[in-house]
Amino acid sequence: MTYIAQQPREQIIADYARYLSPGRVAVYRQIGVDFVPGRREGVWLWDVDGSRRVLNCRTSGGVFNLGHRPPRVVEAVKQALDELDVGDHMLMSEMRAALGKRLAELTPGDIQYTTFSPGGAEAIDVAIKLARGYTRRPKVISVRKGYHGHTGFALAAGEDVFRGKFGPMPPGFLKVPFGDARALEQMVDEETAAVIIETIPATAGILIPPDDYFPQVREICDRSGAVFILDEVQAGLGRTGRMWAIEEWETVPDVLVIGKGLSGGVYPMSATCHRPHLDRFFQENPFIHLSSFGGASLGCVAAMAMLDQITEPGFLEHVQAMGERFAAGFARLKAHYPIVAGVRRRGLMIGFELSDDRLGPLMSRALFQNGVLAVFADYRPSTVQILPPLIIQPDEVDFVLAALDRACALLSQTDLDTLPDLPLPITT
Ligand SMILES: Cc1ncc(COP(=O)(O)O)c(C=O)c1O
Repeated sequence: MTYIAQQPREQIIADYARYLSPGRVAVYRQIGVDFVPGRREGVWLWDVDGSRRVLNCRTSGGVFNLGHRPPRVVEAVKQALDELDVGDHMLMSEMRAALGKRLAELTPGDIQYTTFSPGGAEAIDVAIKLARGYTRRPKVISVRKGYHGHTGFALAAGEDVFRGKFGPMPPGFLKVPFGDARALEQMVDEETAAVIIETIPATAGILIPPDDYFPQVREICDRSGAVFILDEVQAGLGRTGRMWAIEEWETVPDVLVIGKGLSGGVYPMSATCHRPHLDRFFQENPFIHLSSFGGASLGCVAAMAMLDQITEPGFLEHVQAMGERFAAGFARLKAHYPIVAGVRRRGLMIGFELSDDRLGPLMSRALFQNGVLAVFADYRPSTVQILPPLIIQPDEVDFVLAALDRACALLSQTDLDTLPDLPLPITT
């Protein structure tokens, strides 16, 4: 039995347009990225008709940190299917207890308790519910151009481009610029339940904060009693060459939210991990938050296998080494092509900055035509996000760099002012 290519490619696209989203299909066609993933393995994705192969530097924001269908995770889930299912979320669970213990060992400081969800946005909702429930305060402060997903509180903490068309949002959500501790200090008061920030905002363009930013955020939250929620849905789990991106700034948040790569790209899984003092709220209200699929037994098995792999000696060193190989290549590109404005990078979390907003979408398309899937940042189209699987090998890094070289050469000859406007697809 095979699941891939049961239908001809054009039929799949026609069905997708007819039964899911004609709007999306129109955009994909217009921007020249009408790719229908079929076979998938390691860093590679093939079109369903086998006509095209691309190296995945999008990784769905880190879902495929271990590449597609990582053998150890796949094997663990296959074996688990002989014994387990999703489990009953209302009952206790051996798998959830084991994974919770493992996360308590791995997360920073005294973070101890975990609530599981199926997706990142729900995990953010849990974090904000906990902060509001614990503090009994209304205000939630997030950063401009932050991105936390599309459910209730997560959406409210995000930008108007996604939330503006849905009428009034829950009250109390306010924004400050990223990296500006003074602006945050002025906004936080005794009504503030939470401050929520991505460690390295991805959709904003892979921004790196000033050195003293996170220690200051910690202090501001400590002074005011606000809960410090850190979103490492993209930046966590080895992406930056550290287990957690926040380790660089030696700061412990009150709540750490993780998702994306948590279960090796084979099962939906996310986690909201919190420090002991906050648990008073859940101890008083043990059934206040429920999710049928949060912490499914099969997902826990996948996550344990994923964590086993990324905690092996040498794994994070490999991420750092591949990041440095990219950096050397970027320096050569920057010296050669004036359209390359710079690079913001930690490990394999890379923002490749171009000199003009119009170049990001063009670069995504040129890279695609050269065998690399990489997208520009929604809130900063001049940044191309390069987030390869963490298992990428030196020759594959060189493949991406060669594609970038060809794409830069092509775009350097493009007269931007003669181009028609392309629609900007949502890329997060
Ligand atoms: C930083 C960050 N937080 C939260 C989310 C939401 O995760 P999900 O799409 O799994 O709901 C995303 C998704 O891209 C993200 O990048």
